[in-house]
Amino acid sequence: MMTSKISEREQQTLMDAAQKAARQAYAPFSNFYVGSALLTTSGEVFSGCNVENSSYGLTNCAERTAIFSAVAKLGGDHVEIKAIAAVHREGTPCAPCGACRQVIFEFGPNAIVIYRSSSGVQQVHINELLPEGFRLKR
Ligand code: THU
Repeated sequence: MMTSKISEREQQTLMDAAQKAARQAYAPFSNFYVGSALLTTSGEVFSGCNVENSSYGLTNCAERTAIFSAVAKLGGDHVEIKAIAAVHREGTPCAPCGACRQVIFEFGPNAIVIYRSSSGVQQVHINELLPEGFRLKR
């Protein structure tokens, strides 16, 4: 398991991009505005925001929007997440939901996940958030 964390500079780049993306969030039902940004192992950054729906269950979280944006641009076989950050617009603690953990794992089995918990900003390996993640591929 790769456990090395990313640099302060890379973390700041991702947090800034995620913060910017949070401004685009469509969250009129929860009023919980989230942005996410990821860094691929090839050095590209993609971002996304949460997109809610009147039919609540159709909501897409910020992390999955960022990942799907990377896949749409690069093709799924060419996306490997090195690190992914999620931030709430006003800095409320926001750890990725279970669905997003599984999707992060699909495209980043060694991804570093950055988020704010009640004890501050965390950088953790996806395996810590999703032990024994499910996969069919590879
Ligand atoms: N949400 C995210 O976008 N990312 C997370 O990590 C946690 C939750 C969104 C989903 C929904 O639009 C709102 O936050 C409240 O759950």
